[in-house]
Amino acid sequence: MVYYIRFLKPPTWDKKKKGRGYEYYITSLITITNDLGNEFLAEDVELCYTWVRHPQLQIKAQKLDDWEAGSRQLPVIMGPFTTNMVGTGESCFKAQVLRISEDRLKTNGAPLVVAAFSAPFSVSKGAPALVERQFYVGDERSTRFKVWEETGNSIARHLWDAALASIMFLNDVTKGADVGMPALTQLLTSPRSSPLQVIELGTGCGMVGIGLTTMIENCEVLLTDMPEAAEIVQRNLDQSKPKENSVAKFQTLDWAEPPSELCDKSLDLILVSDCTYNSDSQPALVSCMERLVRTSPDAVVLVALKRRHESEAVFFELMTTAGFVPQQANVKLPTQHDESDEIQMYSYQRRAE
Ligand SMILES: C[S@@+](CC[C@H](N)C(=O)[O-])C[C@H]1O[C@@H](n2cnc3c(N)ncnc32)[C@H](O)[C@@H]1O
Repeated sequence: MVYYIRFLKPPTWDKKKKGRGYEYYITSLITITNDLGNEFLAEDVELCYTWVRHPQLQIKAQKLDDWEAGSRQLPVIMGPFTTNMVGTGESCFKAQVLRISEDRLKTNGAPLVVAAFSAPFSVSKGAPALVERQFYVGDERSTRFKVWEETGNSIARHLWDAALASIMFLNDVTKGADVGMPALTQLLTSPRSSPLQVIELGTGCGMVGIGLTTMIENCEVLLTDMPEAAEIVQRNLDQSKPKENSVAKFQTLDWAEPPSELCDKSLDLILVSDCTYNSDSQPALVSCMERLVRTSPDAVVLVALKRRHESEAVFFELMTTAGFVPQQANVKLPTQHDESDEIQMYSYQRRAE
């Protein structure tokens, strides 16, 4: 299970009277929790805070701090800084674990604690309630992947471990690794004369679908979710760097009422990451997938899920009844006290009639 540094209170400049002028402090309130937000990191870690000037990313100051096992939150105070140093321009604040220099997603390897980058803020304007994650994908340093999420508790507008695992997995598959899913591998590695047609259901912040467009060329991804995800997905789309001839866009889609023009669209791949947690919505999700593959019987459905409770067994029963045949692989994630956790990846195809 991965842990995420979160802003309970996004960073702002606080000023205090000093002599005839003022001195300035960056203040914030952070916590370190899992994706569900129901478990706090129960390990001591040394944190490093960095104040950078935006957009040049010039480092202005750094400070070390300690997160202690048993903590639920940690107030941040950096300073004092003079009026001249702070100026009127924009700043960003980063909180990371000291011994993790970068957040790298590679085969069976993710950071235990994901760093938090704030949105820009200035003396006259606080940072919005957003946090940016910056990952390097694969073994080379070259692919940097940035994704925004909200700091609040919305299910749609924040990142889930299964999305990180999906990126690790898709990166391996697109680089030709044998993951025991030949249909998926062929789809993602064979030369194409026309764009690969992909839809993502319940995209949340858009990390998985957008991530795919940064890994392969000639690929069109339609990211879908309820309307509340639209704004954060658009923010992530606006800063994405797709490969040549690849593109992603967003459209609302409720699994209970998939629009007929989407159901009739020819598809190669359907992506689903961490959408099976609610047993009440599983029938609609499976029926939506079933409806999509009616037009595209050869489509591959890639489902990433974290087993959380027994009720998820219903999802597998519904998939079997709908005629989907699975192949399974696991992606390992780190967790505290050097144990390990895994996300299950299922590649489904419809049984031939
Ligand atoms: C746990 S989040 C996963 C988000 C993202 N796929 C990820 O892995 O980070 C589940 C997503 O499913 C979406 N969702 C839930 N019910 C839905 C429905 N009936 N139709 C469309 N999307 C739905 C939520 O809005 C949310 O974005």
